[in-house]
Amino acid sequence: MAYKDLREFIAKLEEEGELVRIKKEVDWDLEVGAIIRRSYDLMAPAPFFENIKGYGNGFKILGASAGVSNKPNRYFARLALSLGMNPESKISDIIEEYIKRRKNPIKPVIVSDGPCKENIDIGDEVNLYKFPTPVIHEGDGGRYIGTWHIVVTKDPDSEWVNWGMYRLMIHDEKTMGGIIAPPQHIGQMYYQKYEARNKPMEFAVAMGGDPVIAIVACSMLPPYVNEVDVAGGLRGEPVELVKCETVDLYVPATSEIVIEGEVLPYERKEEGPFGEYVGYRASERSPKPVYHVKAVTYRNDPILPVSCMGVPVDESAAVVPITNSAEILNELREQGLPIKMVYCPPEGVSHMASVSIKVSYPNFAKKVAYSLWATKPGIYLPYVVVVDDDVDVTNMVEVIHAFCVKCHPYRGIYKFKDSPTYPFLMPFLSPENRLKGTDGGYALFDCTWPKQWPPEAIPKKASFDVLWPKDIQEKVLKNWKDYGYK
Ligand SMILES: Cc1cc2nc3c(=O)[nH]c(=O)nc-3n(C[C@H](O)[C@H](O)[C@H](O)COP(=O)(O)O)c2cc1C
Repeated sequence: MAYKDLREFIAKLEEEGELVRIKKEVDWDLEVGAIIRRSYDLMAPAPFFENIKGYGNGFKILGASAGVSNKPNRYFARLALSLGMNPESKISDIIEEYIKRRKNPIKPVIVSDGPCKENIDIGDEVNLYKFPTPVIHEGDGGRYIGTWHIVVTKDPDSEWVNWGMYRLMIHDEKTMGGIIAPPQHIGQMYYQKYEARNKPMEFAVAMGGDPVIAIVACSMLPPYVNEVDVAGGLRGEPVELVKCETVDLYVPATSEIVIEGEVLPYERKEEGPFGEYVGYRASERSPKPVYHVKAVTYRNDPILPVSCMGVPVDESAAVVPITNSAEILNELREQGLPIKMVYCPPEGVSHMASVSIKVSYPNFAKKVAYSLWATKPGIYLPYVVVVDDDVDVTNMVEVIHAFCVKCHPYRGIYKFKDSPTYPFLMPFLSPENRLKGTDGGYALFDCTWPKQWPPEAIPKKASFDVLWPKDIQEKVLKNWKDYGYK
C-alpha cells in the first residue's frame, strides 16, 4: 500500500516506534540540526519538531526520516517502511524488491488540484523566510531549505523530466543557490542546453509527499529515465501530479511545500560552504547558479523535511548506497555477469561497493569492476571490492575477512589513474581538484581465489558450514536449545 502523503508516513513511523514528537520549543538556528545529528549518532527515532522558535503553531520539521535504527534487526527499518516493506527486512531482500519494482515503472496521473495548493504566494508575496528553515551546521553559508526534496527540471529537447536532489541555500526572500554539478542530470540540462542557448531553465522544488519521492530523487538512475515513473513503480500506484502556478512543470499533489521559478543563464552568486555527505565540510564558498523564485505553494501546517548531512550514517548514506547497490546489481546482471549480490555499505557514503561473484576465468574481477565503473553510480565509486560468492557482501565482517586473507597486498590491488570527473567534494583530492572533480582514480581489491589455481590449492574455509560433516551440523542445530542456549 502506498502512502498518500508525508503525514501518513509520519503516522506509520510513530506506530513503529521510529519517530519522536518534540513539543519543546527548539531553535532553527543550529539546535534543530544538532538534534537531528545526535539522533543519527544514537540511531534514535526520527525527530518531528512541532514547536519551532519564532514560527508559532503550524510550521513543523521532520528530521532523519530515512535514518537508520538502533532496534535489533531493524537497521534499515525506515527505508523498508518507506517502500511499504516489513521493517525487519534483510538488506538483500530490500535490494531485490527494489529491482523487481523498478522494472515495472508506472506513469503518473495529472490531477487538477491538490493539498499543495492550499496556500499560494506569487510574485511579491514570495518570502522564503516564511518557513522555519534551519541553519544546520555551524559555518554553513546560510539557511538550507533544500536537504530532502526534489528539484524538477525538463529537458528542452525531449519528454525527459528529471527529479534530482541538489542542496539549496536561501540567498534572500526570493532567491536560492546550490550546486549544479556538470555530471549530474540537472547539470547536463543546465550547462549543455539552457545556458548554451542563453535560455532560463524552469525549476520546481517539491518537499514531502510519499517518502519514495525523495528516495527516487537522490537515486542514481540513468539519464532519460523519468524518476516519477520509477516512483510509481516503487509505490505500486501512479504518483498524482499537479501543474505548477508559474512554470510549465508538474509536482506531486500532496507535497508539503513547492517552490517554483527559473535559473537564469550565466548568473552566479556565492553559495556554501555546507557540511556534506562525505562527512566533512569539503568545499569553500564559491559562485554557483541562482534559483529565482516566482511562486511558493504549501499545505496548511506545512512540514519541512530536513536531512542533516555529515559523517555516516544519515539519509544520504542510508538511502543512496542501497539504491546504488540495486541499480548496479541490476545493470551487471543484465550484462549477463554472474553476480550474486552488490552492496555499497552506508559507512562508505556511496564510495565503495563490494560485489560477490562466481569467478568464470582468470582476471574476472577486473571485468566486473570495469562494468561497474561504467554505470551512473560508478562515477562515485573509487573503491571496488570483489569477493567469491560464498561471502555475504552485506556483512562487513565477512568482507573484511575476505579482504585481509585473500587479497594479495601487491598483486590483488589494481590502481587505475584514468577516471571520469568525480562530482565535487571528494575529500582526498586537493582543494583545487575537489572543486573541479579532476585527478581522480579507481582501485580494485580482488579478494577472489585465482581461477588458475587447481581446486586442491584452495584452502578450506574453517567455518561451521564447511569444516563439519552435514550430519553433525544438523544434530547441533536441532539440539541447540537443549544445550542450554535461548
Ligand atoms: C541530502 C542529499 C543532498 C544532495 N545534494 C546534492 C547536491 O547538492 N549536488 C549534487 O550534485 N548531488 C547531490 N546529491 C546527490 C544526488 O541527489 C544524486 O546524485 C542524484 O542521483 C542526482 O540526480 P540525477 O542522477 O538525476 O542527477 C544529494 C543527495 C542527498 C541524499
